[in-house]
Amino acid sequence: MSASTHSLVLGDIPLGKLFFMRLDNAFALSRTEDMIALVSVYGDLEAELRSYCSFKGEGFVEKRTSKGCFTYILQKRSDTNFIHLLSQGESCTLDALAPDTLGLSARGSIQELGSPRYNFTLNSKDEIWSKNITKLHEDSKNAQWNATYDIAWNEIPTYNDALEKSIARIMTYLVENEFCALYVPTKFLSHISPYYYEVPLLLSSIIGDEARHIEAFSKRAFASGGLQYSTRTTQQSLYTLFQEKNYFKSSFLLHIMGEGTFIDLLHFLETHAKDEPTKKLLCLARRDEMRHVAYGMSNIKNALARNPHKIELIKDVVFKRKQYLDELSGESNLLLESLCVFAGGGDSVREIKIGFEKLEVLKLKMQKNRTKRLMECGIAEELADDLSKAHTPNFM
Ligand SMILES: [Fe+2]
Ligand SMILES: [Fe+2]
Repeated sequence: MSASTHSLVLGDIPLGKLFFMRLDNAFALSRTEDMIALVSVYGDLEAELRSYCSFKGEGFVEKRTSKGCFTYILQKRSDTNFIHLLSQGESCTLDALAPDTLGLSARGSIQELGSPRYNFTLNSKDEIWSKNITKLHEDSKNAQWNATYDIAWNEIPTYNDALEKSIARIMTYLVENEFCALYVPTKFLSHISPYYYEVPLLLSSIIGDEARHIEAFSKRAFASGGLQYSTRTTQQSLYTLFQEKNYFKSSFLLHIMGEGTFIDLLHFLETHAKDEPTKKLLCLARRDEMRHVAYGMSNIKNALARNPHKIELIKDVVFKRKQYLDELSGESNLLLESLCVFAGGGDSVREIKIGFEKLEVLKLKMQKNRTKRLMECGIAEELADDLSKAHTPNFM
């Protein structure tokens, strides 16, 4: 790139702090060999400027006089201070790898040399990007709700004892699952390069959604007597997701397998809830989850399309998880019974039998929908079906 000349009009600013602040910055923002034409009303600056340039490693070229004004021509001889990357692209031309010099500055900014290296480990587009990310973030901002004010908590009636207990138990289960959905993306957030800043912004909105779900489901549990039992089975299942260290595997387990299944679960609960405030909070939470699933699906689909071998990571994480959970536990019977009571409307033999049948239908629906989502990510039907069947009976 050829040298440029930059004009620095200092007028009647005398030698002093302001004068040298502007001159320092003019040099800092120039590239090596660029010229700076310093314009001043003072004709006696040559000695000072020569000494400044000599001290700073810059060059004094000449002094020119014209119509009562003095122009001092200086040249940047020290190294260029800022890294002018060639690619400062917009999202349509994003590089496949984030530049490691970016630090915490946003894509498009120009970094000063010598700034610290952050070594973000999630720095490749294939690992984290999703084509629909900007739209999902916009949707998320438009769909925010307030768990305190948007739910008519005082309109929730009191039901029979069995139903109240089932609601409180289900809400307790939902809350612990929501904590997992909150902590998992949080773990990865600070490892993502700001070059792909849309991803941390979306994940932050997901984290905000999960915090709201925790609040809303806790409030609903308290409206029915308070939090109930947390089972080892649920915690073991969530732990296998919580401790996953690979973003791709974790995103797959959480957003597609877990939250995808939760969409069906929340829809089931919404259908069988008997009051409008409970229906509404389940519906709002489900809509949030749909965005989370949409991010995960696009991310995984994109990654698999770019590198079909990544299917091995999916098989590995799903089947190992199944094997581990099979050895430890099966389904959470306490949760399943609560779902039967909830869907049946009570714990009489007749009601619980009705609820049990509905639950069986739900499990089949979850299984079918998981297979469908996996196929939409580009996974062949037979494998998609096997993966779906291997999903944890805890749902998340
Ligand atoms: Fe959630
Ligand atoms: Fe979620």
